[in-house]
Amino acid sequence: MEFNCDPVPQFAAWFAEAEMHEPNDPNAMSLATVDVNGAPHVRIVLCKGFDAAGLRFFTNMESNKGHDLAAHPHAAVCFHWKSLSRQVRAEGTVQKLPAAEDDAYFHTRHRDSQIGAWASQQSRPLESGIKLTTEFHQIKNKFTDQAIPRPPYWGGYLIIPHRIEFWQQRPHRLHERMLYTRENGEWQQMRLYP
Ligand SMILES: Cc1cc2nc3c(=O)[nH]c(=O)nc-3n(C[C@H](O)[C@H](O)[C@H](O)COP(=O)(O)O)c2cc1C
Repeated sequence: MEFNCDPVPQFAAWFAEAEMHEPNDPNAMSLATVDVNGAPHVRIVLCKGFDAAGLRFFTNMESNKGHDLAAHPHAAVCFHWKSLSRQVRAEGTVQKLPAAEDDAYFHTRHRDSQIGAWASQQSRPLESGIKLTTEFHQIKNKFTDQAIPRPPYWGGYLIIPHRIEFWQQRPHRLHERMLYTRENGEWQQMRLYP
């Protein structure tokens, strides 16, 4: 397989194929963070954009992952596109997106998802499912006939990768791995044994 010398167009090509072939959420990626004690945690989030600057995702910044990123602004992500037998891993530093970008994305979301962001104290204990539904409806009523502001604790992060690896399954476990590493702003490319 030929790989582009730049991982960004390479990722764009694989992502476009994943969008055509994956039945659900081709933008789903496992996101690994490390907490204040050095323990790792992983969960899925949706990638809401990528370009030469990095990969973006949105969340509640007061969630466990938000606290992890405040303590250690580093993350690893992994996409698995089963229908294509492909994996892409990326690792890098993490920055908060500017508030203007948080606002712009928040307002593209479905109104009920905007209300959900107000209702959910993500990662904190919840007494009962009914409590969450009740709070959702209370917030919905409060904002009747009004634009919903973005909660101050809700926003996006940019993962700035310094390492991206593409993996393609091949017969006899002779899988292809192409690793890109960034040094002084330049991407270097290297094949790895599977
Ligand atoms: C397919 C899928 C997509 C998800 N997308 C997001 C997302 O974009 N942002 C988010 O905060 N949580 C998302 N979640 C929920 C997270 O996996 C996780 O449960 C939540 O963010 C709390 O994680 P934390 O307690 O480690 O912070 C998604 C879950 C799944 C299964």
